[in-house]
Amino acid sequence: MLSLDEKKIRKGKPIGLPYQGSKKKISKKIIEIIKQNFGTDKPIYDIFGGGGAITAECILNGLEVYYNDLDKDITNAFERVISQDREWIKTLIISREEFFEIKAKESKTTDDFLKLLVNSFGNNKLRYLYNKEISDLKYNLAKEIIEKHDVFSGYKQTETYKRSIEKYKQLEQLQRLQQLQRLQQLQQLDEVKATNKSYHTFSDVSGAVLYLDPPYEGSYQESYINSFDSQEFYNWAFEMAKNNIVIISSYKISDERFEAVYSFEKARSTYQSGSSDNGKNEKLFMVKNS
Ligand SMILES: C[S@@+](CC[C@H](N)C(=O)[O-])C[C@H]1O[C@@H](n2cnc3c(N)ncnc32)[C@H](O)[C@@H]1O
Repeated sequence: MLSLDEKKIRKGKPIGLPYQGSKKKISKKIIEIIKQNFGTDKPIYDIFGGGGAITAECILNGLEVYYNDLDKDITNAFERVISQDREWIKTLIISREEFFEIKAKESKTTDDFLKLLVNSFGNNKLRYLYNKEISDLKYNLAKEIIEKHDVFSGYKQTETYKRSIEKYKQLEQLQRLQQLQRLQQLQQLDEVKATNKSYHTFSDVSGAVLYLDPPYEGSYQESYINSFDSQEFYNWAFEMAKNNIVIISSYKISDERFEAVYSFEKARSTYQSGSSDNGKNEKLFMVKNS
């Protein structure tokens, strides 16, 4: 098992793009686990980097990191957010109507991709964030708050929000803009260079920490990822572990050569009972006896 002294975890919010399967909720812990158990001198390869939560956390901790994802749209989006300013972020919230117009476009720009990400339910880029009945109300309210008060996160204190006829618990669009703004902290730090290769291309790497967060076994994925071959990936990861520290994020790995070395406890809700290790916790896996 790996250890974690929670007192050492970086204070402050985690950062990363709103993205399906994002590790933002546990990224601070993951990097602290790596630091405490394997030191800070090895480069970290975030090969299935997605929305960049792990890469961002490495940068904030001053660790050397390589950010990669097969999907160029997501790494472009990450780089675009960092290279732009706060004013530009405001252009990313869109109405339900605009959402479906962009979704139908044959060729999409990086900004189009970001708009779909930021304004979709579960960040799935397919469905608009809100259902039809409340879409316009919530969108118009968010727009008005930005225009009149120029805030993302403090929106509940604004007159516009307090006066809104119906009280909405959350304005998710503003919360997501806030997430993008947090990502812009990286502007002052190291430049992030992304690559868009398949994991196989990293076969020659040695003496590094490979943090691997592949599409989950048997889960629904978008078209081309559909063909993700988990067994082939485990064979590769097993080989790579001979010359590297290989850490895989997953709920469950069916390959017996790997074992869970850390389990992230979920905040338990009152209707959950019994043992907490029910295969539903996110875990870190490594090759057995490595
Ligand atoms: C679970 S997500 C990673 C999420 C990421 N850790 C984050 O915090 O946002 C899995 C990622 O693997 C990428 N992917 C799928 N097949 C790949 C391959 N063969 N090589 C590299 N990346 C791949 C997908 O594009 C997707 O972004």
